Amino acid sequence: MAALKITPRLHNPERCRNESEVESKFIVCYLLPALGYPPESWHQEVTFGRFRLDFLAVADPKPRFRSQLQIVIEAKHPNQNLKRHRYQLREYLKELNIRYGVLTNGKALQVYEMQGLEMKLLLQIPGKKVASHIGELREAIGRNSLIKKALIRKPVKPLSFVQSTESKKRNTTQDLSKMKTIAIYHNKGGVGKTTTTINLAAALSKQGKRILLIDLDSQANTTFAMGLVKFQDELHDTIIDSYVYHVLRDKNKAKISEIVRTSDFCKEPIDVIPSHIDLMQQEDELKQLAPALTRLFYKLKEVEDSYDIVLIDTPPSLNLYAKIAIVTADYMLIPSDLKPFANEGLRNVRRFVSEIDEFREAMGGRPPIQLLGVLASKISTAYKFVEHTLPKMKEVVEAQYGFPLLNSHIFERRDISAAVERTIEVGDIDIPDPISVIDYKPRSPSAEEFKALGLEILSLI
Ligand SMILES: Nc1ncnc2c1ncn2[C@@H]1O[C@H](COP(=O)(O)OP(=O)(O)O)[C@@H](O)[C@H]1O
Ligand SMILES: [Mg+2]
Repeated sequence: MAALKITPRLHNPERCRNESEVESKFIVCYLLPALGYPPESWHQEVTFGRFRLDFLAVADPKPRFRSQLQIVIEAKHPNQNLKRHRYQLREYLKELNIRYGVLTNGKALQVYEMQGLEMKLLLQIPGKKVASHIGELREAIGRNSLIKKALIRKPVKPLSFVQSTESKKRNTTQDLSKMKTIAIYHNKGGVGKTTTTINLAAALSKQGKRILLIDLDSQANTTFAMGLVKFQDELHDTIIDSYVYHVLRDKNKAKISEIVRTSDFCKEPIDVIPSHIDLMQQEDELKQLAPALTRLFYKLKEVEDSYDIVLIDTPPSLNLYAKIAIVTADYMLIPSDLKPFANEGLRNVRRFVSEIDEFREAMGGRPPIQLLGVLASKISTAYKFVEHTLPKMKEVVEAQYGFPLLNSHIFERRDISAAVERTIEVGDIDIPDPISVIDYKPRSPSAEEFKALGLEILSLI
């Protein structure tokens, strides 16, 4: 039986008296529902680096088609001329690589589409005629219509491991309340994996998600950054008897719930499975133990009612621990500074992931890991760089390496390292007291960037 389509009633948008009424009465109460966007598919006041969008609607979070399936909606005061805002809208669409844009002041509504570097006007409708043209609007930017168009249109360079038909089927019936596991991975070091993992954990926990963080890197940077190691000497080593190695080694002992520690890295407590420098030496032993590769995956099943999202920080390598992370996770996020070395590394990532996907299949039809995208991270804030070099770098990653980019950017800023390097004085010694950048400076650009990243990730998983 076809689902009953209920179109919300429209009061006259031309009667909106100010920008806020255009947003609430017209866009939120009428336009988004009429175009088929449920509340969880759009976000209001989204910040991406230096851009602040009034609305971002996401028709479908499938990574391959993402940029074709997003709409930026900008609301203006009724006495503002929409023409004057076209340039700004084009900047948003071009820089964030989003296909569709809508401008409205209540008196008129304009729909635009990026075609190459040009922004073309698709539709222009007077406010009072929107309801009678709703069919055309749905055809142009309605949720179902965009999904259909994206499925027909061939993606630029399909990634074999992004989504199999099998996982697409799974997605349509996916249980949104199910625990999701995300590996934060790149085989290059120093690109911001750990910084992304820990601050994303903070951003997501501030969205009310129950987070478990797993440190699979023997450098244990996440463990340090989460404040679980206060003194770096053997005498005070409280980790050595109980960390991720034990989870991987023992079948019936060392359950997640026994090894986990709670960190006060952010105001909301975050659970962490720590790592230890000894993990490096234990790789050979664990390699001999075949079940170690899948043990984390199975042990996480025991805690799937306790967490919403599991984040795994990985080593900058193609070693056993990186493999375990990719075997275990549902999704992968790739932080990258987008520089040539990091880009070259993407080829290794692709090869490595397809090998592990084969293994996942052999585990009993586990679907391939889903790529959320490359996250531009540690990006210089220099004006010239952001204006000229960054767009070209982003293009290279998509066009030459075939990896989709997230809309979010994490710029290189002092607050990020200052927050994680924070100390407190106890007597005459300084003790590490790291904190998330969101708690350190809640209104700073870095805090905003991580909050936006959190929202983007939530819209994708
Ligand atoms: N956005 C950023 N702004 C400032 N410093 C950063 C940023 N991202 C990472 N760093 C710093 O760069 C170094 C490497 O980052 P890290 O997250 O540890 O990378 P990875 O885990 O990929 O090796 C760390 O000292 C970290 O504090
Ligand atoms: Mg790291």
